[in-house]
Amino acid sequence: MLKKTIVSGSTALALAASAILFAHSGVSGIIKERMDSMKALSKQSKRVTAMFKGKSEFDKAEVIAAADLFVLHGEKMLSQFPDTEQSRHGKKTEALPEIWTDWDGFTGEVNDFIKYSQALQQTAATTDDRSQLRKSFMQATQSCSSCHKAYRKPKR
Ligand code: HEC
Repeated sequence: MLKKTIVSGSTALALAASAILFAHSGVSGIIKERMDSMKALSKQSKRVTAMFKGKSEFDKAEVIAAADLFVLHGEKMLSQFPDTEQSRHGKKTEALPEIWTDWDGFTGEVNDFIKYSQALQQTAATTDDRSQLRKSFMQATQSCSSCHKAYRKPKR
């Protein structure tokens, strides 16, 4: 009984702590979730880009990890942009209204991203040729920029 109280007490503390963290960054809920996804994509992309530029040692496993991560997050992406007040206008979001006024176009971008990421998985499964891997990786990351250009607020 006592033990149970202590456990739920510390859970409440942990929840309070994370609520404070969210309040500090000003980002929460679905916006935080999709920003975290995007950041994970960006982190792995940078790692692979550095390898292709010769700034770090080439390791095909990193390309495979990128392709897997792209597909994983690509498949979650549509559900991370629900048409709700919070999703459209939440604090700090860079999502443009065109996502929802042109949902078909946005869906097309998501599907292209998944398609090129699956192609990258396929390339990585069938060759060790770096220029082919690079080409396939570039094609996938071009769909990041293509979607950002149309559906994300430009950097000021
Ligand atoms: C289908 C569209 C789409 C694709 C594909 C896409 N993004 Fe994004 N990305 C967005 C949108 C929209 C936002 C703005 C989200 C927000 O602020 O609510 C965003 C935000 C970001 C951010 C900023 C996150 C933050 O913390 O503010 C980064 C970094 C990013 N994307 C990287 C990537 C990378 C790298 C890829 C590809 C590997 C990618 N994105 C693929 C639409 C996309």
